[in-house]
Amino acid sequence: MRVLTGIQPSGALHIGNYFGAIKQMIDLQDTSDLFIFIPNYHALTSLKDPQALKTNTIDAAINFLALGVDPQKSTFYVQSDVKEVLELYWILSGYTPMGLLERAHSYKDKVAKGIPANHSLFSYPVLMAADILLYDADIVPVGKDQIQHVEIARDIAVKFNNEFGDILTLPEFRIDDKVATVPGLDGAKMSKSYGNTIEIFCDEKQLKKTVGKIVTDSTPMEEPKDFTTCNVYALCRLFLDEQGEQALQARYQKGGEGYGHFKMYLKELIWDYFAEAREKRAYYLEHKDEVRDILHYGAQKARVIAQEKIEKIQDIVGIIR
Ligand code: ADP
Ligand code: TRP
Repeated sequence: MRVLTGIQPSGALHIGNYFGAIKQMIDLQDTSDLFIFIPNYHALTSLKDPQALKTNTIDAAINFLALGVDPQKSTFYVQSDVKEVLELYWILSGYTPMGLLERAHSYKDKVAKGIPANHSLFSYPVLMAADILLYDADIVPVGKDQIQHVEIARDIAVKFNNEFGDILTLPEFRIDDKVATVPGLDGAKMSKSYGNTIEIFCDEKQLKKTVGKIVTDSTPMEEPKDFTTCNVYALCRLFLDEQGEQALQARYQKGGEGYGHFKMYLKELIWDYFAEAREKRAYYLEHKDEVRDILHYGAQKARVIAQEKIEKIQDIVGIIR
């Protein structure tokens, strides 16, 4: 079973990203043939600062390596290192009805937000289809906003196959329903756009300060507290096993400790949980050449499959080689 996903290089990661997406992806390395890549050509549609795009791409790679992506177990690469994807993108464009792209919510949303409506923004789903179809991916784990893009990839594959036979694998999206929404500092969904995040890779002082901002009620210190409605508890839970949860519940119910104590505890949980990732990240930040080598190695693995596939498709549509 081949599972493929692209993760945008979008800056600082927060614990919502980790528990909502990254952790599941890393767990998949042991059970499936996992392809993970950084879609830097897609990022180019909205990020027009060249230096920022370069830095973000390498930083994203460093963050994923630090958090547990294993380049031996999975195929981990940068989109632009496998040029066959752009060849397929063009070929697939010929099997993509305009109406299919005109219906894309993501395009309409971006334009509504004031991003200039250029062609790359419009044809974004065709490049995403190429990302998926080039590798015969069976399953594509995505966030809700990307479901339609996977469906477009499937529609394009059906059109192509209707013309030429069973050439492209029809992909299915996967949404992880089991993953609860991680609350932010104010109790709403943790999200960069709400400014309520707890970053994974900040220093200890910053972490303490951020955790200190979590909104709680004003139950006095000595009184028992309701853990079921407490944001601090909801965040602590992510890091605890059954036993740990029960112990913390008992502390809430007993009274005698204030929210400051629970926040301190949460800070320690977060800090300890990501200790190894922090060390790895510090190492890779000092060894960016090694990161580039790892990405090239991943691209080499990906290209073996990509080349075979694109040659087959070129032959079928009549492109001489
Ligand atoms: P943000 O909302 O901060 O911009 P993204 O939209 O870039 O985050 O999300 C990247 C991934 O992380 C998506 O798969 C998304 O489902 C997941 N994710 C983000 N925030 C949360 C959250 N608060 N709880 C669970 N998953 C989340
Ligand atoms: N468009 C996706 C996003 O913004 C990223 C992406 C690009 C992707 N190509 C992909 C995801 C292929 C899954 C499969 O999140």
